[in-house]
Amino acid sequence: MSGWSHRHVLDLASFSVEDFATVLELAQRFRSLPVAGARKLPALQGRLMTSLFFEPSTRTRSSFELAAKRLSAEVQSFSPSASSLSKGESLLDTARTYVAMGADILVVRHRCAGVPHSLARDLDRCGERVAVLSAGDGLHSHPSQGLLDLFTLARHFSPEAPGPASLMGRRIVIVGDVLHSRVARSNLWALTGCGADVVLCAPPTLLPECFADFVAAPPPGQRADPVAARGRVQVVRSLEEALPGADAVMTLRLQKERMQQHLLTSLDTYHRRYGLSHRRLALCGDGVPVLHPGPVNRGVEIAGELLDDPDRSLVEEQVRNGIPIRMALLYLLAATAPLPPPLTAA
Ligand code: CP
Repeated sequence: MSGWSHRHVLDLASFSVEDFATVLELAQRFRSLPVAGARKLPALQGRLMTSLFFEPSTRTRSSFELAAKRLSAEVQSFSPSASSLSKGESLLDTARTYVAMGADILVVRHRCAGVPHSLARDLDRCGERVAVLSAGDGLHSHPSQGLLDLFTLARHFSPEAPGPASLMGRRIVIVGDVLHSRVARSNLWALTGCGADVVLCAPPTLLPECFADFVAAPPPGQRADPVAARGRVQVVRSLEEALPGADAVMTLRLQKERMQQHLLTSLDTYHRRYGLSHRRLALCGDGVPVLHPGPVNRGVEIAGELLDDPDRSLVEEQVRNGIPIRMALLYLLAATAPLPPPLTAA
């Protein structure tokens, strides 16, 4: 893959338009493959992916493991509570232990922002030739989720050629708990990187005004923005203002513990003002799709009937697309064998 230079995948702020194009193009090829079984690709034969999940996960962990198996990699899982971390072993020594067993890729989820970055930096310093892939760290980043959301939207707008151009000039609304969402942050970098305008919508306690400047400068530690012209970011406080003209709407999980912190006065009020339903979506054009990264609080951020409506909801499609996106990332970080020629689209 020409131009791909990432040794690790830790966030999407460092992705260029070409990087997004590379991942989407590969994912489209992988998505058109028949489902696994004996038809696995040999691209990662002899490679080992180790998943280090310090937080629970249903979608991310399972789809990384399936993606690795579909590329013929070996898969190893780690359970923190049953590990020697409880005897005081450091995270770096734990990771190096798995590298010594042959891990080529470490997929890391942690509740603290920056842990995959620190681990990647320390492993590099130790001279280890292992790739680190963030599967979500604190409020900071969830790159594979941002990419699968990008792919799902690109496929919705351009099923045959879902590249960055499919997103150019689109108006994408993200509604909900932006402040506490690593998914929203990754989506902001991905969507604006492909030229989409993002409208963020939530009450001030869940969406500080400063998010309007979120992509105005690269994050600390990154010298330059690899994207020359990003889409715009706007902060609004009501769905009535956000939804007209939207091309797609993404809602985020409302973390109910925010109620205890008094960031919301009541779930009912939140649902009335920010919950998505068929009636609310009438403010957009016909057929505007809804996305949600999951897990979902039915009846809070989205009505159950809308979530289950295959004509409007892309939520299951997001889950399906997680596998080819993660195959693409694993392939780019560790492939040992070339791919067969491009396949026809699914
Ligand atoms: N969207 C997401 O990260 O889901 P999981 O927590 O189930 O992996």
